[in-house]
Amino acid sequence: EDMSLPKAERIKLDETDPKKVKLGNGTDVLGTRVRVFGRVHRERRQKEVMFITLRDGYGLMQVIFTGPLAKTYDALTLTRETSMEICGELREVPPGAHAPNNRELHADYFKIHKGWKAAGGDDAITNRVSKDTEHATLLDLRHLTLRGETASKVMIVRDAVEYAFNQVYKELRMRKVSPPALVQTQVEGGATLFKFDYYNEKAFLTQSSQLYLETCLPSMGDVYCIEKSFRAEKSLTRRHLAEYTHVEAELDFITFDDLLDHLELVICRVVEITMSDPTIAKHVMELNPEFKVPDRPFKRMKYSEAIKWLVEHGIPNEDGEEHKFGDDIAEAAERRMTDIINRPVFLTHFPVEIKAFYMQKDKDEPLVTESVDCLIPGVGEIVGGSMRMYDYDELMAAFEREKIDPAAYYWYTDQRKYGSSPHGGYGLGLERFLAWLCKQHTVRDCCLYPRYFGRCAP
Ligand code: 4AD
Repeated sequence: EDMSLPKAERIKLDETDPKKVKLGNGTDVLGTRVRVFGRVHRERRQKEVMFITLRDGYGLMQVIFTGPLAKTYDALTLTRETSMEICGELREVPPGAHAPNNRELHADYFKIHKGWKAAGGDDAITNRVSKDTEHATLLDLRHLTLRGETASKVMIVRDAVEYAFNQVYKELRMRKVSPPALVQTQVEGGATLFKFDYYNEKAFLTQSSQLYLETCLPSMGDVYCIEKSFRAEKSLTRRHLAEYTHVEAELDFITFDDLLDHLELVICRVVEITMSDPTIAKHVMELNPEFKVPDRPFKRMKYSEAIKWLVEHGIPNEDGEEHKFGDDIAEAAERRMTDIINRPVFLTHFPVEIKAFYMQKDKDEPLVTESVDCLIPGVGEIVGGSMRMYDYDELMAAFEREKIDPAAYYWYTDQRKYGSSPHGGYGLGLERFLAWLCKQHTVRDCCLYPRYFGRCAP
């Protein structure tokens, strides 16, 4: 009973007879009479017979209306997206015919309850979103495009991937924490900070939970979080959002090699767990038919080797010149390199000047850091990580070099005063991971309601 409606309009949905089933199920109840609920995904008529594909988020079911049922007013005026309650017998499809899960519902009763009808005419959903609708309009109508097959598959895979991360981290006995989103410190540079007024104090939306994760190590062991990060990115690229979901982890008493091994394991195990669910694997393979689980170990390449590789392959830097040591490897060059190598790459040992203040220097080569970007074909960087500077004086010098006032970071620098340790961690962009797994052109299609430069709605 829907308690939100006035008493007279509340709907009684009889759940006892016949049995209510979700649309993804049904193979176990073949030959019995069932009750289903869902929305009209597609409909077509063939002479006296009406075929309706019903959708409920768990699957699709073909429903057949014959005889008087197909001639009722509600059936004759049926619009897409209308919600329906239908009873009938579930049968295997006849040889040569096709339907989702090879079964169809032979309806003997249906009801479109009060308010369940979807708009028709000019307002019909098919007149608002179609294959020809512009991408910007589709984003304005995200609440409707989410009902489409591609968007809903990506969102369902996303749920499975997020769950898989939690599962892998539990297998590794790591603890989940939830750091604050409203902060007064920066992690990845002032240029992309969202600033706001916090009760008359200056504050930011967090760029990364890393610094907070580091403070958890002494009492909780290895930790992780799956939280939003915010970046005031001013460029419109296919892999930058203003608000994204950041999977971050921090590991205590490790070496840089341990960090790389861990990352490889997490990425592969997440794929393995995600693909072990047949429904999810089917969605992934429909979205990305060529997908295969990456081979381990990943290719490992130092930044200095990458610079050489880019020069040898004639791929220029952002100024159109030959790459030289110290250059940032820009998005376009990075992606071309990753696509040519065509397998995941750990790009390591970036120069100190182009990386964040907190990164540990390589002890044999102090010009470079113990840092890693994981690059994936089709997307480029999906992970950024490093060992953390754990010596107090060195960290204070790094703040000075970057002209950051360390006062607001007392809680972070204190970690180096009370039992420091060699530790490291990383952040993975969930939408980028999904763009790779689901072969989506842009990260904007890998989150529910994307936020990026110029868009904060719906
Ligand atoms: O390389 P980034 O900036 O690293 C950090 O924030 C570290 N503090 C994380 C850590 O070590 N705990 O970001 C990490 C990842 C990137 O590799 C990318 O996948 C994703 O976060 N990312 C974005 N995703 C979507 N839109 C953006 N604007 C992103 N910026 C970073």
